[in-house]
Amino acid sequence: MSDDGSKATDGRATDAPAGSGAVTASIEALFSEDRTFPPPEDFVARANVNDRSLHDEAAADVLAFWARQADALDWVRRWDSVLEWNLPFAQWFVGGSLNVSYNCVDRHVLAGRGDKVAFYWEGEPGDARTITYGELLDEVQRFANVLKGLGVTRGDRVCIYMPMVPEVVVAMLACTRIGAAHSVVFGGFSAGALRDRINDADAKVLVTADAGWRRGKPSPLKPNADVALADCPSVSGVVVVDRCGTDPDMVEGRDWWWHDLVPAADPACEPEAMGSEDLLYLLYTSGTTAKPKGIMHTTGGYLTQVAYTHKFVFDLHPDDDVYWCAADVGWVTGHSYIVYGPLANGATSVLYEGTPDHPARDRWWSIVQRYGVTILYCAPTAIRTFMKWGTQEPEKHDLSSLRLLGSVGEPINPEAWMWYALHIGGARCPIVDTWWQTETGGIMISPLPGLTTTKPGSATHPLPGISAEVVDDDGNVVEVGGGYLTISQPWPSMLRGIYGDPDRYAETYWSRFPGRYFAGDGAKLDEDGYLWLLGRVDDVMNVSGHRVSTTEVESALVDHPTVAEAAVVGANDETTGQAIIAYVTLKGGQEPSDERGEDLRRHVATRIGPIARPKTLVFTDDLPKTRSGKIMRRLLRDVAEGRVLGDTTTLADPAVVEEIARRAAAAPAEG
Ligand code: WT7
Repeated sequence: MSDDGSKATDGRATDAPAGSGAVTASIEALFSEDRTFPPPEDFVARANVNDRSLHDEAAADVLAFWARQADALDWVRRWDSVLEWNLPFAQWFVGGSLNVSYNCVDRHVLAGRGDKVAFYWEGEPGDARTITYGELLDEVQRFANVLKGLGVTRGDRVCIYMPMVPEVVVAMLACTRIGAAHSVVFGGFSAGALRDRINDADAKVLVTADAGWRRGKPSPLKPNADVALADCPSVSGVVVVDRCGTDPDMVEGRDWWWHDLVPAADPACEPEAMGSEDLLYLLYTSGTTAKPKGIMHTTGGYLTQVAYTHKFVFDLHPDDDVYWCAADVGWVTGHSYIVYGPLANGATSVLYEGTPDHPARDRWWSIVQRYGVTILYCAPTAIRTFMKWGTQEPEKHDLSSLRLLGSVGEPINPEAWMWYALHIGGARCPIVDTWWQTETGGIMISPLPGLTTTKPGSATHPLPGISAEVVDDDGNVVEVGGGYLTISQPWPSMLRGIYGDPDRYAETYWSRFPGRYFAGDGAKLDEDGYLWLLGRVDDVMNVSGHRVSTTEVESALVDHPTVAEAAVVGANDETTGQAIIAYVTLKGGQEPSDERGEDLRRHVATRIGPIARPKTLVFTDDLPKTRSGKIMRRLLRDVAEGRVLGDTTTLADPAVVEEIARRAAAAPAEG
């Protein structure tokens, strides 16, 4: 088991942090006597789910249950069989066909809701756009025709490398309209990371922008894309949104401006009827090796589960709610809960381009007030950052429109949960702590806010239709206590594989516990049957809710000409969940120095992206290894977290780790 579980320990809520009198006074009202949080009565009264009927239906006949959820979508042809399960390969709604953009846009317009707002978009500089479903339909069709004009056909891949502007949603939906799969690469990734993902996917077209606004400055994208494209023979066309007016280089015959092509494009494009199991998108995520995995999601099952979870976990009332998922569209949270789930359900969403501290640290709360946001979904790392900034920031604004809060990406520690509940939710809003992964496609474990009594720090129970179980080392089901989180039955939005590597799919997810999907997370079940997620048990770090592979950072480090060897671990961090700590041995003749350390950190940021930049870099003459040569990351984590060193008897040279501990204590860290 990982020792990173200290963040979510027991079911006890901690005392409220000091805040304004009004807010602290209501803390007692928030909890029942056993320090649990039952759903507020007025919330229950209006909730989409306030009894066990969904659970009962799913327990009675899980396939019939999922078929009913799939019936909420519009199908061109209904499926012949709900599930074909050939472990570990699942096919859902086999024989069915549908189009995702039709389900997300056309059908709402056809139902007379063309004037309903799909997105209230706000750029970081304060510029804003309101995009209705009708306008979205127009743009999507035009851009679909632009893609066709660039030679994209059904079955092709399109790479999207963009800031949080409305065009990113248009580009994704346009791909689905013509049956091309998209691969969105987070705008914070480097040119090298972009290049590798384009090449792995063999993408034909890249959609990008000159730059996006970040903390008041344009953060360049097109220049990175140009570096990447020098080594991407598959890309024949590039479409560029002019977001910041930075006047990037444009390659004649390859690069096109969005504003030239889209207005001139044919405004009508029939949606392709896609097979339920046709590829919808690829999304790359870090695993335990240096090579990111192209997670494959398909069409019918994915859309079914994201629409279902979005409706019930967020208790969506599409006519009343203003929903805001503050993730970046470059991560799976953005795919499932900014784009596909909310649009399939006809929601009105907020889309915000920039950082939470521009121009000031109350930007989010200003947005909540101005748009009347009712549902807010964000990551614990953001909440902890807001805690650090202080209650005076949210107190500058009227947050009374909020009625439900969500959390995702990492375990939420009870302190952050309480702060969120009190200072953002005004002791009035249920919190849904949603556990899921890029691979699961949609939410798997979460409270249902009108039904579930929550405990701060626990994601509570699997959703109706989902079979999650904790098992011990031997794969035996654990009733109470700790172990590994597994999923024991296929689910509609599960990954269908790793692009180009079926063996790695079976090996990574299905080999550790036969017949079960192993999530890579530790988990514990308490006496009341509540699930507590305890973080990763593999060599994957979780930094600010983003997955970073230790091996990937190590390989970026050893790729530097001065580095002989590197070991990377994630250490508990108050704000970011985990922080990246790198131990580096330089080649003979190279001298450690602060400048060298800074240089190596920068090197990692350039190779992978700023999120992978180590917070601390410790130079060491040797790394702690077993006699067979395996680096003992556990000891390095102990060092990084300042713990008394564990068992060192299996080390080839126990003195090594003492020396590292001494140096680590003296190493500079970024704030
Ligand atoms: C890993 C998946 C799901 C979208 C964002 C991250 C961790 C995610 C929770 C939660 C505890 C969580 C797990 C998981 N995780 N949500 N509510 N409580 N841990 O997606 O990058 O695929 O990472 O994030 O460790 O395995 P991802």
